[in-house]
Amino acid sequence: MSQQELLLDSERSNGAVTEKRRSRSRLGLVATGVVGGSLVALYAVAAPFVAPALRKVCLPFVPATTAQVGNVLNVLRTRSGTLVDIGSGDGRIVIAAAKCGFQASGLELNPWLVWYSRYKAWREGVHRSTSFHISDLWKASFAQYSNVVIFGVPQMMDQLELKLASELPSSAKVVACRFPFPTWVPESTEGEGIDTVWVYDAKTFQSDLHSGKTRNMSLEDKPDPHTRSLSVS
Ligand SMILES: C[S@@+](CC[C@H](N)C(=O)[O-])C[C@H]1O[C@@H](n2cnc3c(N)ncnc32)[C@H](O)[C@@H]1O
Repeated sequence: MSQQELLLDSERSNGAVTEKRRSRSRLGLVATGVVGGSLVALYAVAAPFVAPALRKVCLPFVPATTAQVGNVLNVLRTRSGTLVDIGSGDGRIVIAAAKCGFQASGLELNPWLVWYSRYKAWREGVHRSTSFHISDLWKASFAQYSNVVIFGVPQMMDQLELKLASELPSSAKVVACRFPFPTWVPESTEGEGIDTVWVYDAKTFQSDLHSGKTRNMSLEDKPDPHTRSLSVS
């Protein structure tokens, strides 16, 4: 082999090595992009579900049981008009209420749950009588609703009592699921255990508020300390 041929051969093999390195670094870039993109997507999906745990009052997504939804509909069977589920989760209470004739709305902090609820309402044919809003319950006004449903946690109920008492029309009814309001006197209850719901009449709790009359919580009224935190059932 001549010297020139040797030079050409070495240039060719150098070129092949460089090309191999380039394609490897391209592959590395693509892999980094895919891993990075997946992590960002995972964060975007998971963050709204984890965020409630970082708030002062932790209200996680725990869907109502079928029996709980049935109890809510049962205590509201003679009612009509507007209804709001505060913290509407996957929209099951709103959709079930719309099927019973209510103009039903859901307020929910988690945008994924709101988009899913809208899709489910559309699939179940109640999109015209439902609406779902990405909204913080503490910043919303409830003045326009005649029926209110809340599946909250004990830590938020005293603050919510004051907010609802000052905003709701006197014709409104409030249904609390799993955890009752601390000072309001319920007009009825339905179901048992974790499926219990309490019904409150706005006229009663508003006049109690104005006259300074509130229920003294007796030991039996207080939720069992073991069930005070929300657990997935
Ligand atoms: C216990 S789940 C109840 C879900 C639904 N109401 C049901 O009964 O199936 C409470 C919901 O409230 C939502 N949430 C938490 N903090 C909120 C806030 N500040 N404003 C609005 N929604 C909130 C959570 O994302 C969760 O979906």
